[in-house]
Amino acid sequence: MPTSTPSDDPLLALFEADTSLAAAQPILALVARYLADTRSGDGPVSTARSAQEVADRLAGPMPRTGRPLAEVAERISTLLLDDVNRLMHPMAVGHQVSAPLPATIWTEALIAAVNQSLAVREMSPSFRPLERQVIRWCTDLVGWGALAGGTMTSGGTEATFTALLAARSHSIPDVWTNGVGPNPPVLVCGEHAHYAVTRAAGEMGLGLSRVEIIPSRDHRMDVDVLHARLIALHAAGTRVMAVVATAGCTATGAFDDIERIADICVANNNVWLHVDAAHGGAAMLSPVHQYRVRGISRARSVAWDPHKTLLLPLSAGLLLMRDERDLQAAFAQTAPYLFAGDSGETRMWDSGTRTFQCSRRSDVLKLWVAFERYGADQLAAMYERLCQTAATLHALLQTRSDFAPLHAPESNILCFTWTPPGVAEANRDELTDALRERYNRSGRGWLTATTLNGRRVLRVTIMNVRTTPAHMQRLADGLADEGAALLAERKFGAM
Ligand SMILES: Cc1ncc(COP(=O)(O)O)c(C=O)c1O
Repeated sequence: MPTSTPSDDPLLALFEADTSLAAAQPILALVARYLADTRSGDGPVSTARSAQEVADRLAGPMPRTGRPLAEVAERISTLLLDDVNRLMHPMAVGHQVSAPLPATIWTEALIAAVNQSLAVREMSPSFRPLERQVIRWCTDLVGWGALAGGTMTSGGTEATFTALLAARSHSIPDVWTNGVGPNPPVLVCGEHAHYAVTRAAGEMGLGLSRVEIIPSRDHRMDVDVLHARLIALHAAGTRVMAVVATAGCTATGAFDDIERIADICVANNNVWLHVDAAHGGAAMLSPVHQYRVRGISRARSVAWDPHKTLLLPLSAGLLLMRDERDLQAAFAQTAPYLFAGDSGETRMWDSGTRTFQCSRRSDVLKLWVAFERYGADQLAAMYERLCQTAATLHALLQTRSDFAPLHAPESNILCFTWTPPGVAEANRDELTDALRERYNRSGRGWLTATTLNGRRVLRVTIMNVRTTPAHMQRLADGLADEGAALLAERKFGAM
């Protein structure tokens, strides 16, 4: 049968028309314009429009016929780009989402073009070996040996969930067949652990009542309480499935004392230690910050998100295992159409038997490109700069009477309070939220708020190397201006 060509096949012609660099130009130009417009620090950081206003603009029937790519690019620009959060803007210091490394942005198009699925080697003949190599670099960095392995994940939530599935199989060997039973083991974590941990307990059928929360001292897990709790659980005949320590807590960026926690785990039946280093894993690269993760090689599993402090675009998460066989044991799945061979060779290259996802993007390419283009030393310097900028803000706020830092930053996160004179203690929480909302809507900058020791506080995360000490000054001054306006409005009853 003769094959059709674009000239006699209008449908094929439609798709083929979009394959050239020239066709991609309008989309690439949007990216370049976005980068140029935002990284300079001019213009608003975010939008004052509500989600409903944006939704109204987008409402309409599904297009039954298409339009040229250049026109689509124009519509992306007018319908969406004016109202994005501009993370490349140096005044964007909100959530733990990066101003992505430029080389990795362009790599995204290649990942989509080749569309290799990492589930099995036959679907990704060169990218699965690439993933193994990159994971080897990372397990070497943790300090593990030849048995180590892991997988890339959609992020820290999936990485921690998968690690805890492995811990569950270790604790209840027949769990895949018979479930967790009426008296499952407990999971232990600090009060500032990410909700991924309690979520995992719910998802895997342990139930939230089987999570033991250890209080903090100075925003870190109180290791004395941990020790006493593990002894008490043992005395009561309660099995412990895992202890989760956090390296870079979501709220404050604080690092648990992994070395001490590892000692305690060893002393208490060698309980499984998982380190959630989703946020702070980049400290492993830095000679300045490495000490904060001392003891991490004693963990049995580690979660680390390059899409956080290595500034990769979403998504790029890592689950690292001291012994990859633990991951194999976490899933006992068979799927003859995919996992046909069971030889050691197949097992090593096919990852689908060891991962939560089936189809899996080749996000590893972004991570490899980041190391290839910038090198581990420059990435470490970048992490150090993010942390240094947070330290600068800390020093600056210490000199002011209208704001007070709540902790010395251990990474790139800082929480602080707004302390305007003459405001009753009872109104502070509401005012803090109102200030954040007002400041973010003003377009001057963008930050977050959280609850710390029962109080609403402001929170900054530096996720952009373009953010300098001068921007920190701009942040404090901008907050003070908006705060003054807020208090004036409130005084005249406008709030
Ligand atoms: C310490 C920690 N663990 C896990 C997560 C979850 O990561 P992800 O959003 O990539 O699933 C976060 C994200 O905020 C985090 O800060």
